[in-house]
Amino acid sequence: MPDNLADPAFHANPHPAYASWRREGPTRKVRLASGLEAWLITRYDEARQALTDPRFSKNGGDDNHPSSAIDRALSRHMLAVDPPDHTRLRRLVSAAFTARRIEAMRPRIEAITAELLDAFPSGGAPFDLIDAFAFPLPIQVICELLGIPADDRDAFRAWSNIIVGGVAYRDQFPGAAAAMVGYIQGLLAARRAEPGDDLLSGLIQVRDSGDSLTEDELVSMVFLLLIAGHETTVNLIGNGVYLLLSRRERWERLCAEPALIPAAIEEFLRYESPVETATFRITSEPVTIGDRTIPAHAPVLIGLLSANHDEARFPDAAEVVLDRPQNPHLAFGHGIHYCLGAPLARLEAQIAFTGLTSRYPGLALAAAESDLAWRPGLLLRGLFTLPVTPGQP
Ligand code: HEM
Repeated sequence: MPDNLADPAFHANPHPAYASWRREGPTRKVRLASGLEAWLITRYDEARQALTDPRFSKNGGDDNHPSSAIDRALSRHMLAVDPPDHTRLRRLVSAAFTARRIEAMRPRIEAITAELLDAFPSGGAPFDLIDAFAFPLPIQVICELLGIPADDRDAFRAWSNIIVGGVAYRDQFPGAAAAMVGYIQGLLAARRAEPGDDLLSGLIQVRDSGDSLTEDELVSMVFLLLIAGHETTVNLIGNGVYLLLSRRERWERLCAEPALIPAAIEEFLRYESPVETATFRITSEPVTIGDRTIPAHAPVLIGLLSANHDEARFPDAAEVVLDRPQNPHLAFGHGIHYCLGAPLARLEAQIAFTGLTSRYPGLALAAAESDLAWRPGLLLRGLFTLPVTPGQP
């Protein structure tokens, strides 16, 4: 009988379950909330290896052709395909998503952060840090990068929540997906009519000049960038603040030693990895891991959070070590699908934690740890809300 990952107690604190599974072996069968049975890889070495093994494919060796136009428009992005399509799509986005464009965002990220921090409620009343800070920062950044109007962000947030929410939102998924695709098509049409200096215009030019991106691929790419660009970074900021405030001495140490912020961010990524399991792989042929063989065409989840807690790889894996000297975590994945947005996510987090610790050293948790609710689903690990009080600025 596979382990049932739909259990809410598992999401509240999955670490003990993962620890006992790692002790039992590097891979096991699990049942997901959707009822689907999948294989889960739990240990670091095996997870890292699987991320580079082409037998763990995105389409199991079959070229998948989703039937509906919406599914097609959402599934032609680089994270959903194998080489050679992956190589081509990643190269095209990388041409527009350059280090120079990311670095050029720094002053805007600092300005957005300062604006959000200025707007924290005064008077000591509790407020939700996710809503006031962890969510609006990355979404504003990715929207500005892509050139998406500020007014559309609330609608966009609602669709995005449903789309990544998994089985909990199954009934609403088709409507949200159709709305999102229609919205992206409208955006592309507007940018074609009036090109700007944004990433969206850059991607359109890549498509129109080389004719190397289909329209579905272009819509799908924007979709991936929008979703990946904020659903993850919100969790990095939220989970990091949670890890700091739930043990006050950690928060105080970071306020006193801001030089630790980059290492601390790596530790947040390791300890409460915002992407809990990598996106699905399908075995193209039988693959033996340890003493078990995963059959061909089986769905496989690579447990990034579990791998990042592997005692065989990380000394004191169960401890939060803010100045961990070596931290080769897999939170951004590994291999050909390694996160394209990692430099942007790190930049945003550094600016966010620098701003928070310098402006609000009195920030405090305003809820018992046991009252904090974690979002359902195995893909993302993050809190719904994080009630805090601002303290004296
Ligand atoms: C891929 C994590 C932020 C864009 C990935 C993967 C992970 C990941 C684990 C690989 C998934 C897999 O192999 O199945 C994260 C985390 C982030 C973050 C933890 C923040 C803390 C971002 C941002 C962007 C982004 C800000 C873009 C603006 C992408 C893209 C891919 C990707 C395009 C697909 C790469 C490919 O398939 O070649 N991310 N990500 N990510 N991420 Fe991120």
